[in-house]
Amino acid sequence: MPSTVLDLNAAEIETTREWARWADANDPLAPLRDRFELPRGADGAPLVYFQGNSLGPMARRTRELVQEVMDQWGSRGHYARIEGARPWMDYHAHARRTLAALAGAREHEVVAMAGLTETLHLLMASFWRPHTGRDRIIMESTAFPSDRYAVRSHVQARGFDPDACIIEVPPRADGLLHAEDFARACLEAGDRAGLLLVGGVNYATGQLLELGALVRAAHAAGAFACFDLAHAMGNVPLSLHELGADAAAWCGYKYLNGGQGATAGLYIHERHGLDTSTPRFAGWWGVPLATRMGMERDFVATPGADGWQVSGPSVIGMAPLLASLELFDAAGFDRLRAKSLRLTAFLEMLLRERVPEARVLTPAATHERGAQLSIQLDDRCMERHAQLLPAGIACDTRRPNVIRAAPAPLFNTFDEVWRFVDTLAGTR
Ligand SMILES: Cc1ncc(COP(=O)(O)O)c(C=O)c1O
Repeated sequence: MPSTVLDLNAAEIETTREWARWADANDPLAPLRDRFELPRGADGAPLVYFQGNSLGPMARRTRELVQEVMDQWGSRGHYARIEGARPWMDYHAHARRTLAALAGAREHEVVAMAGLTETLHLLMASFWRPHTGRDRIIMESTAFPSDRYAVRSHVQARGFDPDACIIEVPPRADGLLHAEDFARACLEAGDRAGLLLVGGVNYATGQLLELGALVRAAHAAGAFACFDLAHAMGNVPLSLHELGADAAAWCGYKYLNGGQGATAGLYIHERHGLDTSTPRFAGWWGVPLATRMGMERDFVATPGADGWQVSGPSVIGMAPLLASLELFDAAGFDRLRAKSLRLTAFLEMLLRERVPEARVLTPAATHERGAQLSIQLDDRCMERHAQLLPAGIACDTRRPNVIRAAPAPLFNTFDEVWRFVDTLAGTR
């Protein structure tokens, strides 16, 4: 046996509870679990919480960092903006290094700010330029509905027809999205191709798309390549800068564990970010820190992604994010991904053996998925799912017959994967 569970290969995984216990005892990341307050069931015991893809749990240090903000506010009021260990004027800068590492970006290419859907509107304001004739937006037909609302309303608000401008690329018969189909749609749009805007990991299937191929497809057609990384940040390895992606946005409350409404984030490739004439919707927080309080009449953007900030952010909303990012630093993303792949492989192997009627919709290839498996069950899916929470298992569903389960490497265990499958098998 290898020395830790992170060193072994998939063929060495055994589908027994004994193996799960061995894996947990030989998991160098296992101590991080205690640095979270995990949601509890009716009996007071921690739930098997496989919903970190929807709302991550709370890092224990969150209380301390939120308290710090409140103490600063209570004792110093306005002066907390410029004083203390983390002055609020550039509080977001404390998230920068870790976010850049997770996004595979340079530090000046990322900023913690706003909420995801708002940020998507800001991206479209910058990278959808229909007046140049490039009025087509290419997206997936299976995008998270809110993304469709955002794109359609954005197009409409700017005086264009969403039915004419938006090209939706559907999944194939295998239920999956294919980069070649986006490439074809970009080429067919010809010199009207303006923006490719796609989810990096699909919320429903858990499919991780081939971002490099999508960037190449968009650029070959003369379009910008932007991504919604809600289900990708903190879940799968990203290299946005190297791929040349133009821009991306993510939320802070899923795998990043920042809590409901946590500060989201934005990546802008430096070729756009360092060009302060790149069009944008501006606000005072986007001017250089040194002149922000100068109240200059005209907007001058600070170079980099910071220049996309609009409002002064909620520091209370950002404190929990900082608490969680500390744990990403402690773990190291390579190790997290190594554990994640093994947790999810173990989940899939157990499902195959113990719940043979289940069909995993998520691609099998590790480079095409993150933590989440979307598990299609029989027509009793909803009924079976309803039995899980009373048994201490938290996961969600997508109607009519899919359960989404995302074992997260920061806080979940191999034994929890075993319990999840054992309980699901018992609901037949
Ligand atoms: C893929 C995707 N995009 C957008 C959103 C909307 O996010 P928000 O409410 O943070 O703007 C979600 C929320 O779950 C999502 O999963």
